[in-house]
This record gives sequence, C-alpha cells and structure tokens, in this order.
Amino acid sequence: MGILDKHKIIEKNATLLLVLSFLVVTIGGLVEIVPLFYLEGTIEKVEGVRPYSPLELAGRDIYIREGCYVCHSQMIRPLRDEVERYGHYSLAAESMYDHPFQWGSKRTGPDLARVGGRYSDKWHVDHLRNPQSVVPVSIMPSYAFLLDRKLDGKTIEDHLIANRRVGVPYTDEMIENARADFLAQADPDADWDGLLARYPKAQTRNFDGQPELTEMDALIAYLQMLGTLVDFDTFQPAASR
Ligand code: HEC
Repeated sequence: MGILDKHKIIEKNATLLLVLSFLVVTIGGLVEIVPLFYLEGTIEKVEGVRPYSPLELAGRDIYIREGCYVCHSQMIRPLRDEVERYGHYSLAAESMYDHPFQWGSKRTGPDLARVGGRYSDKWHVDHLRNPQSVVPVSIMPSYAFLLDRKLDGKTIEDHLIANRRVGVPYTDEMIENARADFLAQADPDADWDGLLARYPKAQTRNFDGQPELTEMDALIAYLQMLGTLVDFDTFQPAASR
C-alpha cells in the first residue's frame, strides 16, 4: 500500500481526519506557545520604558474610547519604508504596559507610535478641533468637544490600581499620588518634582491652552509622549550587544 493509499483512509473517514487534524494543530500550537512561558526575554527590558503617568493614562483611555485605533496603528514594522517614514521600528517593550495594546490593524491615518514631539501642542489642538484647518484634505473627524469636557481625576487612583492588578508595576507611592500627579501635570503653577521623579520624561505644561484641565489636555499629554521614552541614540537590540 502506497503512502497515498494510506492517506485515502484518512480522507474517507471524517472522524479520523478530525481527530488527526486536531492533534496536528495542538502540537503546532504547543510548539509555538509553550516556549514563550519559559523565555525570560519574550519582552526584552528596555531602558526608559515606564508606566504611563496618570494624565497620560487618562489620555490613553480617551484614545480608546474615541476609537482612534480604528484609523491609526501604533506599530512601526521593521521595514525600510516604515522606518523611513515613522522612525525606529516599535519595540515590544514600548507597549508592555498597554492593556490592551494599541497596535491596531488598519491605517486610514498614519501610524502614531512615534508621533510624540512631531507637532506642537497647538497643532494638536487645532487638528483635533478641526483636522481640515491644518490638513485640508484630511478625512479625520473633529474632536472639538474634548476642549469642553473637564476632568477632575476622581477615579484615576482606581485606574492605576486596576492596571497594577494586570501587571503594570505602579508602586504604592504612585498610587497614593495618583490624583495629585494627575492634576499637576498640565498645571503650569504646580510643583512637578515628585511627578518627574515618578515618571521620568513626563511632559509638564498646559497642553490645550485653556485654564481648566480637560480631556484635550489628557489626550495631547498622551500623544506627545508616544514613542519618546526610549533613547534611540543609545539603544542597542539584545542580539547585537
Ligand atoms: C476616520 C479615521 C480617523 C479617526 C477615527 C481618527 N483619525 Fe487621526 N488621522 C486620520 C487621517 C486620514 C489622518 C491624516 C490626515 C491628517 O493629518 O488629518 C490623521 C492624522 C492624525 C494625526 C497626525 C499624524 C501625523 O503623523 O501626521 C494625529 C496625531 C491623529 N490623527 C490623531 C488622532 C486621534 C487622537 C484620534 C482619536 C481621537 C484620531 N486621530 C482619530 C484619520 C482618523
């Protein structure tokens, strides 16, 4: 009996085919997945990556609520055209504190993984209020209402605690200071020393130009930090060290 004849037996017996297919898929799955649990370096630790500051975290929440991920990815692939357009390819560590991650699956607009620092705060305010005022051909919708929605940070402490439960290393000190840090980051009169010690490189200023703390401040604080935590002048991938 040739090998093809033997295969015929399987092909003619639906149950046997199902059982054997299941076995093959199971083995394949195990081979792919199990090593990840034992590999310490699944996510390489990278200097500079830290949990989000409370205001950035709130901004990220608004980003998710408004469905920005539907049109924007946050994942620069290691392909030449992407790296030339957007900057250094994304590292796994850069989204290790994202629950859920914002890699996205579609780019109607550009990738935002390194948008931090690319534009001024004013540009972002104008763009979010009326995208066509700065990019005439833009099809991005307006988010002007974010300027009117005030934030008081009453629930931000719980938000940090929830993130800690799923593995983000927020310290007790960070949680105790969550609301104060939340209110301080966009307040030009605040003392930023504690905030900056807890969240190095956090950007501190009035982001939306209004005296009140608004969702616009939070969203821009988040956008302006995206992709800025790792210093790529000194970063070397593990494989090349
Ligand atoms: C319907 C799709 C769509 C949605 C939803 C959307 N955008 Fe956009 N976005 C675009 C397009 C298209 C562009 C490119 C044209 C432009 O700059 O306006 C863009 C550009 C941008 C840029 C400039 C990026 C660059 O590198 O030039 C930023 C920042 C941005 N969007 C942020 C956001 C945020 C934040 C949200 C959610 C509040 C959002 N977008 C929602 C389509 C979208």
